[in-house]
Amino acid sequence: MAIVDAKEILIKATEGKYSVGAFNITNIIQMEAVVEAAIERKAPLIIQTSVTPAKAIGPEVLAAVFRVLAESAPIPICLHLDHCTDVDFCRRCADAGYTNIMIDASKQLYEENVRQTKAVSDYCHKLGNISVEGELGTVSGVEDQVVVADDEAALCDPDAAVSFVKETGVDIFAPAIGTAHGIYKTENPKLDMDRLKTIAGLINGKTLSTPLVIHGGTGLKPDVVKKLVSLGGSKFNVSTDLKHALIDSTFDHISANREQYNPGKIDDAVRKAIKKRVNYWIDLFGCEGKA
Ligand code: 13P
Repeated sequence: MAIVDAKEILIKATEGKYSVGAFNITNIIQMEAVVEAAIERKAPLIIQTSVTPAKAIGPEVLAAVFRVLAESAPIPICLHLDHCTDVDFCRRCADAGYTNIMIDASKQLYEENVRQTKAVSDYCHKLGNISVEGELGTVSGVEDQVVVADDEAALCDPDAAVSFVKETGVDIFAPAIGTAHGIYKTENPKLDMDRLKTIAGLINGKTLSTPLVIHGGTGLKPDVVKKLVSLGGSKFNVSTDLKHALIDSTFDHISANREQYNPGKIDDAVRKAIKKRVNYWIDLFGCEGKA
């Protein structure tokens, strides 16, 4: 139990047709809150940090807190570096104790994406007990330092996906299928479910080897989330939703208690709000009791 890489829990999730929540956190309170919620629901968990909070707090500090929380937790937990475009920083986080690393070279040409992703895969696999996520096609919207305009977004080509996985040695794979980071601009974003199905069939049809990742969870309707999970999305990323929960709960608490100067009470309000959202997602992902 406790500290795991992403691949091992995601193989089980793919087999069991559920998804593991991969929640982006920006501080330690949020990290504690997602862990508490997952423990209460007996759900496997992936904690994610984008590059900016990882640099601000320090990957060594984040990994140390993760270690303390995960070692005593009765559920498997992975610490994932999200959308890192810098191979050296990927290496630093792997050295620090992250157990899944995403190198995001998806804006580069195919050959360069393969080169950078393979470099990170080789490094992490040599260290051991660290899995690697790569992306092909580009997910539109804003996720930390990665900004993809609508006209830059490109869906993942299924045949290229097969060669990408083979050439890079990635353990888990994120195909762009039309989901987006941040708040969706339309109520019913156009997602290419058939493309996901095709890619899942080509990559994991004969032998389940490379679990698939869905980016851009925030704002997707419940039936859409469930459909993506049923088609093989076994890691489901949620970031913006938790940022809103953090900021709204802080604002609401301070607005209602303007004369109270007790930071612990703000933390309690944030913890409660984050746990509520994580519970919502765990219900949709079907991962309760799968730890
Ligand atoms: P959202 O911010 O849309 O939830 O996307 C999260 C994500 O995919 C992080 O990689």
